[in-house]
Amino acid sequence: MYDKKSNMVPLKRRKLVSSHIGNTGTDCSGPEVPNKFPQVVLFLLERKMGASRRAFLSRLGQSKGFQVEEKFSRSVSHVISENNCGDEVRTWLDSQVGGQTPVHLLDISWYTESMRAGCPVEILDRHKLQEQRTDEAEVAAFSAPSYACQRRTTLVDRNTVLTDALSLLAENAELSEEDGRGVAFRRAAAVLKALPEAVTDMTQLRGLPCLGEHSLRVIKDILANGASSEVESMKQSERYKALKVLTGIFGVGAKTADRWIKAGIRNLQQLQDSGQTLNRTQRAGLEHYDDLGQPVMKAEANAIGQIVEEAVGSVLPGARVTLIGGFRRGKLTGHDVDFLITHPEEGREVGLMPKVVSWLESQGFLLYQKTTRNSYLEAKDGPARPSSNMDRFERCLSIFKLTKEEKGGRKQPETLTEDCTESVRAPDPDPRVQILRGERGTHEGGLEVDQTKPAGRKPWRAVRVDLVVSPISQFAFALLGWTGSKLFERELRRWAAHEKTMSLSSHALYDNKQKRYLRATSEEEIFAHLGLEYIPPSERNA
Ligand code: UTP
Ligand code: MN
Repeated sequence: MYDKKSNMVPLKRRKLVSSHIGNTGTDCSGPEVPNKFPQVVLFLLERKMGASRRAFLSRLGQSKGFQVEEKFSRSVSHVISENNCGDEVRTWLDSQVGGQTPVHLLDISWYTESMRAGCPVEILDRHKLQEQRTDEAEVAAFSAPSYACQRRTTLVDRNTVLTDALSLLAENAELSEEDGRGVAFRRAAAVLKALPEAVTDMTQLRGLPCLGEHSLRVIKDILANGASSEVESMKQSERYKALKVLTGIFGVGAKTADRWIKAGIRNLQQLQDSGQTLNRTQRAGLEHYDDLGQPVMKAEANAIGQIVEEAVGSVLPGARVTLIGGFRRGKLTGHDVDFLITHPEEGREVGLMPKVVSWLESQGFLLYQKTTRNSYLEAKDGPARPSSNMDRFERCLSIFKLTKEEKGGRKQPETLTEDCTESVRAPDPDPRVQILRGERGTHEGGLEVDQTKPAGRKPWRAVRVDLVVSPISQFAFALLGWTGSKLFERELRRWAAHEKTMSLSSHALYDNKQKRYLRATSEEEIFAHLGLEYIPPSERNA
């Protein structure tokens, strides 16, 4: 990228400036005016130098006609640091906007000598920070657009070691209610998921967006040592394990889990012993804890799809059922199964959900359900709130009872599913299940945990199913909003708001400049409204 041997300014920069800028070490004469050396834009790194010394040195430089910047930007040509090694500064630089532009990384000695000389002295080897990176020419750098909704992310991830580590850090941040940090790690993981090849060297990451200082540190650790010490110790931490176990209960979020942990509760046994009151959802979650902790297989999702179709077809002929969520993106397993229901005639979908639920209940398919009514009114609610991912469709959160017959698809009973489920079940690395299994049969006090029989023996399993009903006029928005991934959705809304001055939700798209709704009957039209290339569901796995 830049000529390391040269003591001159970076090659790229040289091309931009027409006047003589090369031998900064020669011409030291002239009056002391501000910005005497326009090609030399300095930035002093505060890290280890300290704020007051930095301020002092900055003023000194400015008084001698140097341009010393307060903030780092693309225009900086020389970064000066004190007591930092080259790799530390490079890591910091990589996390900065414009940190990929060529720049000299210099020790404070170059600065003080230049102050003494009254002009930028020649850059000698001893001034340069030593970096251990391999030669840039050896490995090609990756590039990617900054928003996940501009990228195609398939299920093929060539960097699982890195993305798993970053996803765990994201999960831990989310469980600790540090959503900002969570999103930062999710974005970093998503960038790596979209790469066409495995990362082997830090220099390949130079041009990539969304990789902050912390994520880069983790990646570097893994590339050097095979694992991230931070992630490994987090996984072993009591708090993380307790959060995983407790939020593994359907109906228990980060807040509740935190409250319980503060009360000394670390596992399900302690939860029972504590006598905490649980709501109906949490009681159902605990009752079916083991089943709901197991991934749902594609065949099981298909079987449930047939049941939902039958239910919907029986109560409102002509209504349509669409598989959404992760399975629509082509995933082979999921934590639940999601369906979107609509009717081609606007208004016919009103009152549909209670009928579907009644049908399912009458057939014995529901172990639990909670229906929320549609509360969206465009006239009242719109323009869609940009930052909120809450939507207000009529929605049913449920737990299905999937019997053996249904598990592999009703038309082909006793297929692969039993074996398939078993193979996922053992051995189980999920701490939730391990902890639970250690306690099997000891539950008392009204918390009935479905653990009296070994897993897999009973003729059915519990599966989380989400049903959503949308009017046909909002169908495309609902489909796009519920297909995910969660990060892809978040990035779509961020793109709409920041790049297009629009507000996107699962109900509508509003143009804040034109002050009007932009209608759409397909996902393709929505992407077009947003000025984005169409990305099919299978490539939304960000
Ligand atoms: P899920 O949580 O079901 O995720 O939400 P998923 O991608 O299907 O993955 P697994 O396999 O089940 O874990 C599916 C989509 O529905 C949206 C989410 O944004 C996601 O894109 N969703 C979910 C909402 O819009 N609102 C909600 O309340 C829940
Ligand atoms: Mn899902």
